[in-house]
Amino acid sequence: MSNKLLEAALSEENFHDPRCAIATTPDKAYRHPALPTLPAELNTGLRVIDFEHQMLLSSMASLRQICHDFEALEDCSNCTAKTRVHCEGDLIALLGDLLVFIMDHFQTEEKLMRDSLLVMVDRDLCEAHMEDHAAISSKVQQVVAALDRMRTASLIRELDKLLHRWITNHVALHDLWLARWVLREDSVLKTELAINR
Ligand SMILES: [Fe+2]
Ligand SMILES: [Fe+2]
Repeated sequence: MSNKLLEAALSEENFHDPRCAIATTPDKAYRHPALPTLPAELNTGLRVIDFEHQMLLSSMASLRQICHDFEALEDCSNCTAKTRVHCEGDLIALLGDLLVFIMDHFQTEEKLMRDSLLVMVDRDLCEAHMEDHAAISSKVQQVVAALDRMRTASLIRELDKLLHRWITNHVALHDLWLARWVLREDSVLKTELAINR
Protein backbone atom coordinates (compact mmCIF):
# COMPACT_ATOMS: atom_id res chain seq x y z
CA MET A 1 0.00 0.00 0.00
CA SER A 2 1.42 3.39 -0.87
CA ASN A 3 2.11 5.82 1.94
CA LYS A 4 -0.20 8.32 0.27
CA LEU A 5 -3.07 5.85 0.23
CA LEU A 6 -2.41 4.75 3.79
CA GLU A 7 -2.34 8.34 5.02
CA ALA A 8 -5.61 9.06 3.24
CA ALA A 9 -7.18 5.97 4.75
CA LEU A 10 -5.96 6.79 8.23
CA SER A 11 -7.27 10.32 7.97
CA GLU A 12 -10.76 9.00 7.28
CA GLU A 13 -13.10 8.52 10.21
CA ASN A 14 -12.63 5.08 11.72
CA PHE A 15 -15.55 2.70 11.91
CA HIS A 16 -14.92 2.29 15.61
CA ASP A 17 -15.08 6.02 16.19
CA PRO A 18 -18.22 6.78 18.19
CA ARG A 19 -18.68 9.89 16.08
CA CYS A 20 -19.68 7.50 13.29
CA ALA A 21 -22.95 6.70 15.10
CA ILE A 22 -25.99 7.24 12.95
CA ALA A 23 -26.64 10.96 12.89
CA THR A 24 -29.96 12.03 11.52
CA THR A 25 -29.51 15.72 12.09
CA PRO A 26 -28.63 17.52 8.87
CA ASP A 27 -24.96 17.71 8.18
CA LYS A 28 -24.49 21.02 6.42
CA ALA A 29 -20.87 20.22 5.64
CA TYR A 30 -21.74 17.03 3.83
CA ARG A 31 -21.17 16.97 0.10
CA HIS A 32 -21.16 13.49 -1.24
CA PRO A 33 -17.86 12.64 -2.82
CA ALA A 34 -17.81 11.63 -6.44
CA LEU A 35 -18.89 8.03 -6.76
CA PRO A 36 -15.61 6.21 -6.53
CA THR A 37 -14.53 3.92 -9.24
CA LEU A 38 -12.34 1.26 -7.75
CA PRO A 39 -8.91 2.86 -8.16
CA ALA A 40 -6.01 0.69 -9.21
CA GLU A 41 -4.53 1.07 -5.74
CA LEU A 42 -7.58 -0.63 -4.23
CA ASN A 43 -7.53 -3.50 -6.68
CA THR A 44 -6.70 -6.51 -4.53
CA GLY A 45 -5.85 -8.82 -7.41
CA LEU A 46 -8.35 -11.40 -6.14
CA ARG A 47 -11.06 -11.63 -8.75
CA VAL A 48 -13.92 -12.60 -6.46
CA ILE A 49 -13.08 -9.86 -3.95
CA ASP A 50 -12.66 -7.15 -6.57
CA PHE A 51 -15.91 -8.19 -8.25
CA GLU A 52 -17.75 -7.90 -4.95
CA HIS A 53 -16.19 -4.50 -4.24
CA GLN A 54 -17.47 -3.36 -7.63
CA MET A 55 -20.92 -4.60 -6.57
CA LEU A 56 -20.61 -2.37 -3.52
CA LEU A 57 -19.98 0.61 -5.80
CA SER A 58 -23.07 -0.34 -7.81
CA SER A 59 -25.03 -0.41 -4.61
CA MET A 60 -23.84 3.12 -3.79
CA ALA A 61 -24.93 4.28 -7.25
CA SER A 62 -28.39 2.77 -6.72
CA LEU A 63 -28.64 4.35 -3.28
CA ARG A 64 -27.98 7.81 -4.70
CA GLN A 65 -30.78 7.30 -7.26
CA ILE A 66 -33.42 6.95 -4.55
CA CYS A 67 -33.56 10.60 -3.48
CA HIS A 68 -32.85 13.56 -5.76
CA ASP A 69 -31.50 15.72 -2.93
CA PHE A 70 -30.28 13.42 -0.20
CA GLU A 71 -27.24 15.60 0.45
CA ALA A 72 -29.21 18.58 1.67
CA LEU A 73 -32.72 17.57 2.76
CA GLU A 74 -33.24 17.81 6.49
CA ASP A 75 -36.22 15.48 6.32
CA CYS A 76 -38.85 14.33 3.85
CA SER A 77 -41.60 16.72 4.90
CA ASN A 78 -41.62 18.58 1.58
CA CYS A 79 -42.23 15.41 -0.42
CA THR A 80 -45.66 13.95 -1.08
CA ALA A 81 -46.90 10.99 0.94
CA LYS A 82 -46.74 8.88 -2.21
CA THR A 83 -43.11 9.84 -2.81
CA ARG A 84 -42.20 9.11 0.80
CA VAL A 85 -43.69 5.61 0.54
CA HIS A 86 -41.87 5.04 -2.73
CA CYS A 87 -38.48 6.23 -1.42
CA GLU A 88 -38.73 4.26 1.78
CA GLY A 89 -39.65 1.14 -0.18
CA ASP A 90 -36.61 1.59 -2.40
CA LEU A 91 -34.34 2.08 0.60
CA ILE A 92 -35.73 -1.00 2.37
CA ALA A 93 -35.18 -3.10 -0.76
CA LEU A 94 -31.62 -1.83 -1.11
CA LEU A 95 -30.86 -2.47 2.55
CA GLY A 96 -32.16 -6.04 2.20
CA ASP A 97 -29.83 -6.70 -0.74
CA LEU A 98 -26.96 -4.93 1.01
CA LEU A 99 -27.27 -7.04 4.16
CA VAL A 100 -27.18 -10.26 2.12
CA PHE A 101 -24.19 -8.94 0.19
CA ILE A 102 -22.36 -7.94 3.35
CA MET A 103 -22.84 -11.36 4.90
CA ASP A 104 -21.60 -13.18 1.79
CA HIS A 105 -18.67 -10.85 1.19
CA PHE A 106 -17.38 -10.90 4.74
CA GLN A 107 -17.76 -14.68 4.89
CA THR A 108 -15.69 -14.96 1.70
CA GLU A 109 -12.89 -12.86 3.15
CA GLU A 110 -12.95 -14.57 6.54
CA LYS A 111 -12.79 -17.99 4.86
CA LEU A 112 -9.76 -16.75 2.93
CA MET A 113 -8.12 -15.79 6.23
CA ARG A 114 -8.59 -19.36 7.47
CA ASP A 115 -7.78 -21.20 4.22
CA SER A 116 -4.62 -19.17 3.66
CA LEU A 117 -3.57 -19.83 7.29
CA LEU A 118 -3.23 -16.08 7.90
CA VAL A 119 -5.39 -16.51 10.97
CA MET A 120 -2.68 -18.74 12.45
CA VAL A 121 0.21 -16.54 11.39
CA ASP A 122 -1.21 -13.19 12.45
CA ARG A 123 -4.30 -13.59 14.59
CA ASP A 124 -4.32 -9.95 15.70
CA LEU A 125 -4.42 -8.72 12.12
CA CYS A 126 -7.30 -11.06 11.29
CA GLU A 127 -9.19 -10.14 14.44
CA ALA A 128 -8.87 -6.43 13.65
CA HIS A 129 -10.15 -7.13 10.12
CA MET A 130 -13.09 -9.18 11.39
CA GLU A 131 -13.91 -6.57 14.03
CA ASP A 132 -14.13 -3.97 11.30
CA HIS A 133 -16.50 -6.26 9.37
CA ALA A 134 -18.65 -6.50 12.48
CA ALA A 135 -18.57 -2.72 12.89
CA ILE A 136 -19.68 -2.17 9.29
CA SER A 137 -22.52 -4.69 9.69
CA SER A 138 -23.55 -3.00 12.90
CA LYS A 139 -23.68 0.42 11.23
CA VAL A 140 -25.89 -0.93 8.46
CA GLN A 141 -28.14 -2.53 11.08
CA GLN A 142 -28.39 0.87 12.77
CA VAL A 143 -29.67 2.36 9.53
CA VAL A 144 -32.27 -0.42 9.34
CA ALA A 145 -33.30 0.21 12.94
CA ALA A 146 -33.60 3.95 12.26
CA LEU A 147 -35.92 3.53 9.22
CA ASP A 148 -38.47 6.28 9.28
CA ARG A 149 -40.51 7.41 6.28
CA MET A 150 -39.91 11.06 7.20
CA ARG A 151 -36.12 10.63 7.43
CA THR A 152 -35.29 8.59 4.36
CA ALA A 153 -33.10 11.36 2.89
CA SER A 154 -30.90 11.65 5.98
CA LEU A 155 -30.61 7.86 6.27
CA ILE A 156 -29.49 7.67 2.65
CA ARG A 157 -26.89 10.32 3.48
CA GLU A 158 -25.58 8.31 6.43
CA LEU A 159 -25.51 5.07 4.46
CA ASP A 160 -23.69 6.78 1.59
CA LYS A 161 -21.02 8.05 3.98
CA LEU A 162 -20.68 4.59 5.52
CA LEU A 163 -20.27 2.85 2.17
CA HIS A 164 -17.77 5.43 1.02
CA ARG A 165 -15.66 4.93 4.15
CA TRP A 166 -15.85 1.19 3.58
CA ILE A 167 -14.44 1.52 0.07
CA THR A 168 -11.72 4.03 0.91
CA ASN A 169 -10.81 2.93 4.41
CA HIS A 170 -11.54 -0.72 5.06
CA VAL A 171 -10.39 -2.01 1.67
CA ALA A 172 -7.12 -0.06 1.96
CA LEU A 173 -6.42 -0.96 5.57
CA HIS A 174 -7.59 -4.56 5.67
CA ASP A 175 -8.53 -6.23 2.38
CA LEU A 176 -5.30 -5.29 0.62
CA TRP A 177 -3.23 -6.89 3.37
CA LEU A 178 -5.26 -10.08 3.14
CA ALA A 179 -4.83 -10.17 -0.65
CA ARG A 180 -1.12 -9.50 -0.36
CA TRP A 181 -0.78 -12.51 1.93
CA VAL A 182 -2.94 -14.78 -0.24
CA LEU A 183 -1.06 -13.82 -3.41
CA ARG A 184 2.48 -13.96 -2.04
CA GLU A 185 4.96 -16.15 -3.86
CA ASP A 186 4.78 -19.23 -1.61
CA SER A 187 1.07 -18.97 -0.81
CA VAL A 188 -0.83 -22.26 -0.65
CA LEU A 189 -3.74 -20.57 -2.43
CA LYS A 190 -2.01 -18.45 -5.05
CA THR A 191 -2.37 -20.95 -7.87
CA GLU A 192 -6.00 -21.66 -7.03
CA LEU A 193 -7.17 -18.10 -7.25
CA ALA A 194 -7.53 -16.24 -10.49
CA ILE A 195 -5.45 -13.13 -10.44
CA ASN A 196 -7.13 -10.00 -11.59
CA ARG A 197 -4.24 -7.63 -12.07
FE1 LIG B 1 -12.72 -6.95 4.62
FE1 LIG C 1 -13.91 -6.45 1.19
